[in-house]
Amino acid sequence: MSDKKILITSALPYIHGIPHLGNIITSILPADVYYRYQRLRGRDTLYICGSDSHGTMHEIEAQKRGMETEDLVYESHKRVKSLLEQFNFDFSYYGITNSEENRETTEHIFKKIDENGYIDEREIDVTYCQNCEKYLADRWIEGECPECGGLARGDQCDDCGTLLDPKDIVDSYCIHCGKGDIDFRKSKHLFFRLQDFEDWLKDWVPGVAGNKITEKESFSWLDGGLRERCITRDASWGFSVPKEGYEDKVFYVWFDAPIGYIGATRTWAKENNEDWKKWWKNNDVKYVQFMGKDNVPFHTVLFPSVLKGTGENWHLADKIMAGAFLTAGDIKFSKSRGKGLNLESALKIRESDYWRFVLMSLYPRDSDIRFSWDIFQDKINNELTDSFGNYIHRTLKFLKDNFDSEIPDIDAGEDGFWEDVIRSVEAIERYIEEFRFKKAMNEVVRLSSKGNSYFQEKEPWKNIKDDEEGCKETMLICLNVVKSLAIVSEPFMPETAEKIWDFLNEEGKIHEEDWERAKKIDLRGKTIKDPEPLFEKVEKENIPKFTKEGGEKNMISFDEFKKLDIRIGEIKKAEDIEGSKNLFKLTVDVGEETKQSVAGFKGHYIKEELEGRKVPVLVNLEPSELMGVKSECMILAAVAGNKEPVVLEPERDLEAGTGIA
Ligand code: MF3
Ligand code: ZN
Repeated sequence: MSDKKILITSALPYIHGIPHLGNIITSILPADVYYRYQRLRGRDTLYICGSDSHGTMHEIEAQKRGMETEDLVYESHKRVKSLLEQFNFDFSYYGITNSEENRETTEHIFKKIDENGYIDEREIDVTYCQNCEKYLADRWIEGECPECGGLARGDQCDDCGTLLDPKDIVDSYCIHCGKGDIDFRKSKHLFFRLQDFEDWLKDWVPGVAGNKITEKESFSWLDGGLRERCITRDASWGFSVPKEGYEDKVFYVWFDAPIGYIGATRTWAKENNEDWKKWWKNNDVKYVQFMGKDNVPFHTVLFPSVLKGTGENWHLADKIMAGAFLTAGDIKFSKSRGKGLNLESALKIRESDYWRFVLMSLYPRDSDIRFSWDIFQDKINNELTDSFGNYIHRTLKFLKDNFDSEIPDIDAGEDGFWEDVIRSVEAIERYIEEFRFKKAMNEVVRLSSKGNSYFQEKEPWKNIKDDEEGCKETMLICLNVVKSLAIVSEPFMPETAEKIWDFLNEEGKIHEEDWERAKKIDLRGKTIKDPEPLFEKVEKENIPKFTKEGGEKNMISFDEFKKLDIRIGEIKKAEDIEGSKNLFKLTVDVGEETKQSVAGFKGHYIKEELEGRKVPVLVNLEPSELMGVKSECMILAAVAGNKEPVVLEPERDLEAGTGIA
């Protein structure tokens, strides 16, 4: 085993919306397990992550909410960061790509690759919405597919999959304002000459790919032949491009995001008086990256080429480990705010260790893995509770009831069982080093069931009466297995491990322990604390409730439908909203009260056309703010082609407040 320092990074999560379980299972979580394990082995280890904070979606969302982009981004960053803390991810530093350190690094790297001749200038067609006065990112223009008549989005048809030139889309419109005032303009952009690195990459990638998936995803780009890639965008949120004639453009989000690993290390170094170059410009480092398979070519092709193109001595990744996807069985993994099983809703169901356990026992190393509530229940009830938790609890409880909580102070007679314990611990080491997290997690459970069988075989509840010495030996071994389990489970379930450590009345924090102690019988003569059960089973009755939360097949139950309070409302007043081209503020009489709604009717109806109309209204909508104006109910309208809203009217005159069901 080498004594190199270990640098670990996991893909930087996007922060528009809350990351869901599928986002972390292959990136932040396995990286955290790997980091915690290496720390227990006593290695000098640094784990860097952070928020991927650029990208055009933030600008649009901020505009919708009437906020400054920067405020929105930092608010989202804070929210995601705090959720990640609740999952006990123990980053050495969690940064953000929008930092000064990252700006400096990005500018420096860009200037080097430019000086070295890897940047080309080209004039390209860009899409522009005259109404929004904004350039439109790739998928912000929609319309009818010229091939099949389906929904064309940007450069591709969602229905038939044909690659399109946005100019060919029929009846195209901007997805923000719904209007067809689209213009195709010429704009000068910068391209990185990726093709210059093709030969080198074909050599380099197989050596660093941590598994087959990583290699396969990389060659999906490499085999097709590399082309230059545009690294600039017409947008205002992001790092502006430090080159004459390009100051009003920003870098493409995938250009500065991976550089963010370096940027965040620099922020960490600055705050902790450390030297970041010891990690990034040093051969005495092993650098390991974790991510989902959709991120692979950016890490195995684009990022290393950019670093290499500087001609400087950057330490490239030594191992790149990508996992496949966690697919939804009866649960929806949706990134949109508040929906599906994201980190926030998961924590409402169970604490983080339950999730860390289940996710790591499903780690999709070689192919996609399906998640379902049946699997969730099975893992928690049968493995976590009945095997792992039960073994620990029955052992500690037996010691309390029969030995006054004192671990026997004797030497153990060797009967081969302890060697089996050591074999398990060593298997866990090997599995983690090989990124076989599922196997490692299973081996932890297996060790506990070995303990259970040993306890069962030795029948301490019998020989406490006729063979006290034998019973003491059994308890000494069993207690030491509890200690081994605490240590080997720390990378996976840090809170649980800490709890067991406390029951054992051991000093210090378990994450500062030495992994080797898991292989030793060195716990004797101590008095332990009173144990409590570690886990709670998941009952069948609770599962349908969870399922609904996940939104099975996009269906809602009648009970859910009944929650919608839809009534006839009368629009009393329509007013402009300052700075908005498509929103009106509407005052609506919904029966017993008057509510305010912000709705996108402007440009389709004039104010006078709306005033006095009776329309269906969703009354019990959670209030929100649009362009700084409160919206507390929603006018229901049909959405015709080009996203044109069409007001609905009851077939005969009805009083405001009449219910709809
Ligand atoms: N934000 C990207 C995603 O969630 C990952 C970026 S990884 C980076 O898919 F480090 F390169 F930024
Ligand atoms: Zn528009």
